[in-house]
This record gives sequence, C-alpha cells and structure tokens, in this order.
Amino acid sequence: MSGVVGYIGDKNPVEVLVAGLYRIKGHDSAGVAVVNDEGVTAVKSLGKLENLEAKLAAQPVTGHLGIGHARWATHGVPNETNAHPHFDALNEIAVVHNGIIENYQELRTSLQQEGVAFRSQTDSETLAHLIRKYYQGNLFKAVQQALRCAKGAWALGVVSRHNPDVLIVARQGSPVVVGVGDNEAFMGSDVSAIIKYTRDVVYLDHGQICEVRRDGIKVEDLDGNPVQHEVVHVDWDDSAAEKDGFPHFMLKEIHQQPEVIRNTLRGRISDDASDVNLSDINISEADIKACPRITIVACGTSWHAGMVGKYLIERFAEIPVELDLASEYRYRDPIVEKNAIVIPVSQSGETADTMEAVRLAKSQGARILAVVNTVGSSVARESNGVIYLQAGPEVSIASTKAYTTQVTAFALLTIWLARIRGTMTKDQAKDMIAELRTLPDKMQLVLNNQEPIKALAGKQKYRDAQSAFFLGRDYNYPSALEGSLKLKEVSYIHAEAYPAGELKHGPIALVTNEMPVICVAPKGNIYDKMVSNIQSIKARAGLVISIATEGDTAIQAYSDDVLYIPECYEPFSPILVALPLQLFAYYVAVNRGCDVDQPRNLAKSVIVE
Ligand code: AGP
Repeated sequence: MSGVVGYIGDKNPVEVLVAGLYRIKGHDSAGVAVVNDEGVTAVKSLGKLENLEAKLAAQPVTGHLGIGHARWATHGVPNETNAHPHFDALNEIAVVHNGIIENYQELRTSLQQEGVAFRSQTDSETLAHLIRKYYQGNLFKAVQQALRCAKGAWALGVVSRHNPDVLIVARQGSPVVVGVGDNEAFMGSDVSAIIKYTRDVVYLDHGQICEVRRDGIKVEDLDGNPVQHEVVHVDWDDSAAEKDGFPHFMLKEIHQQPEVIRNTLRGRISDDASDVNLSDINISEADIKACPRITIVACGTSWHAGMVGKYLIERFAEIPVELDLASEYRYRDPIVEKNAIVIPVSQSGETADTMEAVRLAKSQGARILAVVNTVGSSVARESNGVIYLQAGPEVSIASTKAYTTQVTAFALLTIWLARIRGTMTKDQAKDMIAELRTLPDKMQLVLNNQEPIKALAGKQKYRDAQSAFFLGRDYNYPSALEGSLKLKEVSYIHAEAYPAGELKHGPIALVTNEMPVICVAPKGNIYDKMVSNIQSIKARAGLVISIATEGDTAIQAYSDDVLYIPECYEPFSPILVALPLQLFAYYVAVNRGCDVDQPRNLAKSVIVE
C-alpha cells in the first residue's frame, strides 16, 4: 500500500509531511503539496525520500497546510508524473490517495469526454478532476459528492488553494487516521506517520469523510449524515507504531491478508460478479486458445503458490501446466513450444533465478505473463503482461500476504482462462467468484480466533521439537510445503513436507512420538485419503496436529491437536489453510526467541544466484 500524510497548523508543513513519509515502509516515489499565497505548490521525486528532500532543499516551500504521499504503484509505472499529489486541471486542488479506484477507467473516459486532459496513468488522478467537477467553493461537499461516484478503496487527503483553512480526509477500505493537536491537526495512513506530533487520534471508518480544521474536526458519511467520532490516546512507542501495534511486521502482514485479498480482487470482477476482467494482462484470447502448455517458474513461497495455480488451471481450464523451480528451469534446457506461455511468480519481481528463467523463456519465444507484487520490478518490466498482487509492500522476510494474494491471483487467472477455453460456464464462473469473495471474511474469523493456534505453539512438545513433517494432498500439498517453509525459516526447526501419499514410501520410518506431523485435512475430495494417512501415523505412535474444517469432530479421535478453519470451497482452501500454518510458525518462533522479521541467513529478495 502507499502512504498518505497531511498537516494543518503553524509548523512548516514540509517538515511534518516528510517526517511522516519516512515512517511509511516501501515506496517507489514520493511527493508533497503545500497551500500558500501563491497557490498549491507541489514537489515530487522518484525513488527514495532523500531525493524528495534534496529537491525541497533546493526549492523551499512554505505554508500552513499540506499533504504528502509515498507511492507503492498499483496503476502506472513509478515515475514523477505518476507520483502523487495529483491535481485538477487548474492546479488548484491536490489529492493524495492510497487504494484502488475500481471504476477509474469509466470515470476517466467520462471526464475526458467533458474535455478533461489527464496527465498520468494513475487511477488516483481521476479523483482530483472529479472533485473539480463538483467544486463550487465548499471543498468538503465537493469531495463528498465526488466520492459518491467512485467505487473501490481510498485513504484520501485533499487540499485546495481557495480553502486554506481545511484539510479533507476520507476513508473507504484503506486505513487512515486524523491526529488532533493544539491548534493544529494531522492525517496519516497509519499512526506511525503522526505519532511524533500527537497521540490523540480519530480512526476514520469505512465510508467516512472528515473536514479537518486547526481547532476541530467534523465527520460525516458520504450522504452528509453526521457521524459520531471518538478521539483515542495511543500510547505505543515508535517501533510499535510502525507495526500498527503488532510486535512484528510478520504478524502485521498476516493480519493484513483479508484486506489485501480484497485489493487483489478489486477491479477484476465484473459488476454482475459473473466474470473476471484482467487488465494489463496483454495476452489475447487467441494466444490463450493457441497455447499448448503453461510453465510456471518461481522460487520458495512463490513456487508453492505456483503449484496451487497448476492444480487450478489444469483442473478448470484444462491447459497442461508444468511447474518448475526457476533455479532448475534456467539450466535444464527446457522445451518451449510455439505459443507457449510462461508465468513467473515473484513478490519482489527481482529474484535472480526467476529473472533469468524469464529471459531464457523469452529467448525461446514464449509469451510471459508475470504474477508479481512490485510494480515496475525487473520481472514485470520484462514480461508481456502482468497480474499485480496489489498487496502493498511486504516487509517481513517470511512471505505471508504475498502467498495468499498470489493464490488469489491464480484463482482469478484460472477463471479467466477457463472462460476463454470454454471449459467453464458463466454460472460456474459466477459460483467460483462468489466463493472467492467469501474468503476475506472467513480469514478474519480465523484471525479473530487465533488463541488455540497460539496455545498450541506454546506446547513444549511442539515448541522444542527437533523436526517436523507437513503432509497434504492435491491443492493442499503446496499448503504443506508452505507451512514447512514458514516453520523452518522463522523458528529454525527442521521441517519437511511430503505429499501424504508418499509417506508410506519411506518417510514413515521417521515417525516417532516426538516429531509433530502437521496434516492438512480440510473437507474435500481427498479427505478420506488424508484420514487414512493420519491413522497410519497414529498407529505408529506419531504426534499429529490436524488442520480440519470446522464441525469435523471425528478427526479429533486420531489427532493429538486440531486447528480448525471455516468451511471452504476446496480449490480455494490453501488460502484459508495458510493462516493457521503462518500463525503456528510465527508463535513457535516467538516462543523460541527467534528474530521473526529478520531470520538468520535470509534476505527479503534473493537478487543473487
Ligand atoms: C518466503 O517466505 C521466502 N522468504 C522466500 O522463499 C521467497 O518466497 C523467495 O525468495 C521468492 O521471492 P520472490 O517471491 O520475491 O521471488
């Protein structure tokens, strides 16, 4: 996600805005806009905040009202034109926005037909022109009216040269807080951006808009109904503030998953929820129909997500899919058929092995469709088409939200492919989309009830285990692989994952009553097979933790412990299963005193071989 900040008061806004932007993790460009007697002055820069500071040092800007933005691109590559703040045509209204305007193309086209000229490729600029359209002197009402036309998510800050006494803040989805001070006020996409100046904050809720003045604030909904708001005092220290109060970025990012999965889906489902529309994919229906085989290449967690993608695409789109580790693919002289499509999966978009696999595939004539999180990354730039995760920066080295949004992206891609290949009816697509849309709320249920997972991770027989097995089948064999990697990389407990059917071919020799075997066994087509695997482990005095579907009490008879997930459409169960696996690994690591966010020997992006 991007970050937004705002200020009104007697301090120099630039100092407050830049200090706030430094607290926002992960960005590719930044900018500020300050209201003063000359109008609204903006300074923007590409890259690090130091570049923005250097520009501001060379071009000092003063005033008493301003907004700032640290951009994590979702629409439009990182450059100064696409950097925020964005302006209306008269350069008198400036906006900073975090989120996705789902209907921005429709709004852009309509505004262009009214003669509006756009400068950037962003969805956010649309808001500046829309506010201008409705502006008749009252900025609060103009923003209120503009947002009634918009769909999607926003944490929004707006200023105008003709309204130097107000800062307008609005929220839908993306979080935003308003800080109140002594004859001054602040805005931030999270508390860490303003805690240096005030600890008294108002958390705006969905659909709310706030008129911020030095001496007070007014909050309404978009229909103009007044909304009660509460000023809360935040007593976090600085470090806790940048993690939104969570002890680690990993736990913060685990909790972001319901919202970021909504962001992955945002703007990609037709209004009647019966079809998937993927922009930026740049691969034609003819390409899809002519494609003899898809090859998915990735590393680590992204490879696990790719494996779920393989199962989904083969089952529903009936296209042969080969999955390979990028580090193997790039050296094994793969056969790349005519019209083949290669899908690199990468959170960072900078993993060396994945990048080289892309180059090899391109040299063999393949079309490249990337599934990545980082806009403008090397993998994205070298691909023909891209599906962006829209998950915001992932700071913790252990990947969590990138994994579940990658699987979500593959679910969208599968529906899109299957509809083109004629292997899925419109009704089937509608049903699958409906199932996808239930996931964020179901994930929230697991997050709201994580005490059993935390308690399990505190049990000595698990916390101090020397080794662990993770078993799964079909869609949830990749889940087992992902759970094993999570435990390994944050708690340093040796762990292996196997397809459950493989256990009897050797690994079962290792089963003892001291080695936890985590069995992923949600209700589904292969549930009975999983149960018989679990029973064979118990028959050898094994130690079993089962991950099962709520209501499945029978599985307790042959499990030492059971972690439950809500009932879920089996093909999408890896997204829900990921949560207990991530949280179990996290709490075991915390109990073992490990450096959860910076595990030894690991880097966030492996940009070397
Ligand atoms: C995931 O927890 C690991 N940190 C690692 O396996 C990671 O998934 C892998 O290095 C691939 O990174 P990428 O998605 O940025 O390409």
